[in-house]
Amino acid sequence: MIRRNGARTSVTMAKAKPYYAEGGLSALYYDVVTAADARLRGDEAIYCGLAPASGSILELGAGTGRLTCELAARGHAVTGVDIAAAMLTQARARVAGLEPEVAMRITLRLGDMTALDLRRTFDLAICPYHTLAHIPAGAAWRNTFATAARHLPPGGLFAVHLPRLEVMRSLPAIDPSAMVMDRPLEDGRRLRLYVRDRSFRDGINRLEQVLDYVIVDPRGAELQRSSERLVYFMQDPVPFAESAGLALDRDPIGQGDDGDIWVFRKTS
Ligand SMILES: C[S@@+](CC[C@H](N)C(=O)[O-])C[C@H]1O[C@@H](n2cnc3c(N)ncnc32)[C@H](O)[C@@H]1O
Repeated sequence: MIRRNGARTSVTMAKAKPYYAEGGLSALYYDVVTAADARLRGDEAIYCGLAPASGSILELGAGTGRLTCELAARGHAVTGVDIAAAMLTQARARVAGLEPEVAMRITLRLGDMTALDLRRTFDLAICPYHTLAHIPAGAAWRNTFATAARHLPPGGLFAVHLPRLEVMRSLPAIDPSAMVMDRPLEDGRRLRLYVRDRSFRDGINRLEQVLDYVIVDPRGAELQRSSERLVYFMQDPVPFAESAGLALDRDPIGQGDDGDIWVFRKTS
């Protein structure tokens, strides 16, 4: 073990590259992995239900455009912002394959949701699929809620999908040799995932995991391996939202063990 910021950190953890980094496999195969996650199906309907018909949507952490494109296909003008160039490259490729009248409703931008000012408002702002949990639950959360508030009119909604603390805290012990996902790729290759390391730090409620992305040939021989560090933070989001003038609008929308979608309304 080595020490980082006063915390014990395993060598595996320290050597892993950050999730969604340029050249990493978590960005390249994000769509393969999320397509296999049945718990995510239907989240576009929840966000659509929060926006007026054809209303504009700001998506913080748009990633590969999984939701961006679905929401645009349902008639919304969507601006998707993401900090990871590797994710936006894939989003742009996805948009290029859409019907022109859907593609023209989408704007993609490289940017940091903790410090974004597009100098306009949207009918709805969203921060889907644990995006907020990727950044520390302190100033970065406060600034992200301020970003959402800055881009909403009075009464506008901000929806945030966050994991559940009790699930993060009680994940089972890992077996680094156990394959947790095995998906076919083009050309008969396969993507296999292994959880190599995991730690949970109470108080700051930080879950850190190292996932090994392994590409194998049709006979199972390893072609490529990438160790990538996935971090989640979780706290009660309500005080952070309130500091930006956003009040909880309803009970969180449960997504089972995949967390909850919290909906806030700009008060004035
Ligand atoms: C789990 S993915 C969600 C992607 C997409 N919204 C979806 O639902 O499939 C999280 C995304 O948040 C992005 N992200 C993390 N921190 C960010 C920040 N500070 N500003 C903008 N995007 C960020 C990551 O690069 C990644 O693409």
